[in-house]
Amino acid sequence: MNAKKMYTPFQIGGISIKNRLAASAMFEYGAEDGKITERIKKRYRQLAEGGFGLIITGMHAVSREGRVAPIMVETTYSDYENDLRSIVDTAHANGSKIVVQLQHAGYGTFPQDGYDHFGVCDKEMGDGVFYHAMTREEMASVAQGFAAAAARCRTAGADGVQIHAAHGFLLNTFLSPSTNHRMDEYGGSIENRARLLFEVYEAIRVAVGKEFIVSVKFPFSDLIEQSITEKESLYVCHELARKGVDMIEVSSGMVMDGSAHSFTPFMKKGTREGIFLESAAKLAELVPIPVISVCGYRTPAFIEDTLHSTKITAVSFGRPTVREPNLPKRWLEDDAPAACVSCNRCCASFNDGIITCQVLKDKMKNHNIEH
Ligand SMILES: Cc1cc2nc3c(=O)[nH]c(=O)nc-3n(C[C@H](O)[C@H](O)[C@H](O)COP(=O)(O)O)c2cc1C
Repeated sequence: MNAKKMYTPFQIGGISIKNRLAASAMFEYGAEDGKITERIKKRYRQLAEGGFGLIITGMHAVSREGRVAPIMVETTYSDYENDLRSIVDTAHANGSKIVVQLQHAGYGTFPQDGYDHFGVCDKEMGDGVFYHAMTREEMASVAQGFAAAAARCRTAGADGVQIHAAHGFLLNTFLSPSTNHRMDEYGGSIENRARLLFEVYEAIRVAVGKEFIVSVKFPFSDLIEQSITEKESLYVCHELARKGVDMIEVSSGMVMDGSAHSFTPFMKKGTREGIFLESAAKLAELVPIPVISVCGYRTPAFIEDTLHSTKITAVSFGRPTVREPNLPKRWLEDDAPAACVSCNRCCASFNDGIITCQVLKDKMKNHNIEH
């Protein structure tokens, strides 16, 4: 029997999670024209067999035009529920719970699709694609898209969904004063900037009822001067909890492109563990629901200390799940830090058919081992 706190169970809503080590959402890079593939199923089987108590899937698009690329899973194709069910069943057979992350990519949507692109405000992107400021009808349609996607996840047997409100995608651009310059009731005050997120949550809850986890990945800071403030983040998260959100995972940062606006530099090797820990700890003091902290967790001793010295309920892992999908099981026997070196090269998995640790791939190649 392992006495560590990270191996003790906790509850999200009415659902029991067997340990406090969660797999955070990692875009799978593996869909075939939006459809779940065998490689994607294999990734989740490995995470479930590897002992993660909670598995959050990579972001799945709530509509075709909301995707970042055709290799992103879409929730709208006819066999989505069947394909997802097989992932869910494998997770459950291994004692893991599974939550599907739902996404509309906003300014990050796939430019070649020929759609009438929209975002929080009028904006021409570097690739020459024009995004127009969303109309009320488009906002209502996005909220309904989230709700319909969540209902499909519920039908497939998933334990819940996570609204992706972070990392510079659509909902984050509404929350941040750096990108939201609207003059209507969706811009200006934090009550207004959070309105679409609240509407998305409420639409989902109506669609799925109470006995289903609805969680949010929240961007606590934009990591730039013109950021959502700590006070605003605490207000929005408190409101989300009051409205019935079951769990909040605290992240930060707008984009993943390595720019000054990005959180990528924060994630690089050499930065300290638990980079957004203080934000998560503050939130955990305020809300009565579980708070999960993500980013940079690599050693069992640090994680134990975090779980003992704060009210943070659990920690989650992104890149280490690519390198070592069996991390929770491995740490039962061997306390060595996660092998992930935080090089961010898993971001370059476009031609691999599935998110891949490129360091491991190079090692395998050098030893003539098939990956
Ligand atoms: C290649 C890659 C893909 C990612 N995909 C997602 C995603 O689909 N949804 C999401 O919320 N975060 C995504 N993230 C962020 C991770 O969930 C996590 O927040 C981040 O990697 C920091 O945690 P870590 O230090 O444990 O990797 C991604 C990160 C990387 C490097």
